[in-house]
Amino acid sequence: MPTASLITTFSITTFEGFEEILSAEITALGGEDVEIGRRVVHCNGDKDFLYRANLNLRTGLRVLVNLTEFTARNEQEMYDQLKAIDWSPLLAKDGNLWIDANTSSDYHRNAVYLSQLFKDAIVDQFRDKTGERPSVSKEEADLRLNLHVTKNDEVSVSLNSSGDGLHRRGYRRKTGGAPINEVLAAGLLLLAGYDGEVPFVDPMCGSGTIVAEAAMIAANHPPGLNRKFGFERWPDFEIELWSSIRQEALDARRRPPHPIVGSDIEELTVSLARISLDRAGVLNYVDLYSQPFDQLQAPRITDKEAGGMLVTNPPYEMRLTTGNIEGLYQMIGDTLKQNWKGYTAWIITGSPEGLKSVGLKTSRRIPLMNGPVEVRYVRYDLYDGSRKGKHLEEE
Ligand SMILES: C[S@@+](CC[C@H](N)C(=O)[O-])C[C@H]1O[C@@H](n2cnc3c(N)ncnc32)[C@H](O)[C@@H]1O
Repeated sequence: MPTASLITTFSITTFEGFEEILSAEITALGGEDVEIGRRVVHCNGDKDFLYRANLNLRTGLRVLVNLTEFTARNEQEMYDQLKAIDWSPLLAKDGNLWIDANTSSDYHRNAVYLSQLFKDAIVDQFRDKTGERPSVSKEEADLRLNLHVTKNDEVSVSLNSSGDGLHRRGYRRKTGGAPINEVLAAGLLLLAGYDGEVPFVDPMCGSGTIVAEAAMIAANHPPGLNRKFGFERWPDFEIELWSSIRQEALDARRRPPHPIVGSDIEELTVSLARISLDRAGVLNYVDLYSQPFDQLQAPRITDKEAGGMLVTNPPYEMRLTTGNIEGLYQMIGDTLKQNWKGYTAWIITGSPEGLKSVGLKTSRRIPLMNGPVEVRYVRYDLYDGSRKGKHLEEE
């Protein structure tokens, strides 16, 4: 576990496509020697960084503290090397333990078996030394460990300082339709360059995830304020340091300078969005409407100046909408063209047919995954003719 001054190496996981924006977030929080991998960013930092990263990262999924690395060609080598680590400073003999394993090895194929082998190595070490053994519990884990095995049987063992994934912000209870992952939503906004300095709209907001993440970005509101983290149960937890980092983040919040709007055709989903936004602590910053997109009015920067950013995740399966997909996306294209001049609009969708029906020229197309579904995140620049704002510039 990192001490206040000792530098530790971290591996912070994310979704494919978000590595660059995560590394920018890490650098801004003081992470050093930042190195980008696939779905992971490595860096160095101290305990202060560890606490800040968990509280503030919008596109990180888990902050892992690297413990050790070794090669294990068979089960015995794996067990022996895991048992050789001294677990007593990290876990009490009557503590609770949980292990998440993932593997790309051809030999060590079964992740569930690997996590059991790991658990046995720790339990056997405690039993040999003390006659007692820790228990296994995910919900009540005092120590959550991560075991990663590469294709070449290289094993990395790390402490999961986050506990539950950082997408669990603590604001979502019930959801309607097909909610997007919170980290995915935040990543979409940061990829689009959203910083709260223009009006923001999600006109098909569903349970409000994109709008909640936008309001948190615009308000400088840390995404982890309403949840617990794994490191809070570690023996070296420094409550004063943690409280001062939280207080600093609370003091840095602001009222967003521009309107933030969420709207959906379904009244019930809008009421779910209202509950989530309230729980996230940003309801006061968001205007919610229950309206079809083609009737929603675009908020303006000023009376004279049109423009802003629109990010939305329209239905891409028919069970989530009425009519047909082509008709829905055609309506989206027509509405953007007629009512949203001056805006930069971003759409994330798993429907290539839908996108074709929008009928507008895209200025960027980014391939991403939404869970198991391949999606496209595309940008439309809806020129106003009378002005070209900085947010409308082409890369
Ligand atoms: C995929 S869901 C959005 C999920 C949302 N991103 C979330 O995280 O909860 C698509 C939403 O579009 C809404 N919708 C469908 N047709 C619409 C229309 N014409 N105008 C406004 N909203 C519409 C649906 O009610 C649904 O909530």
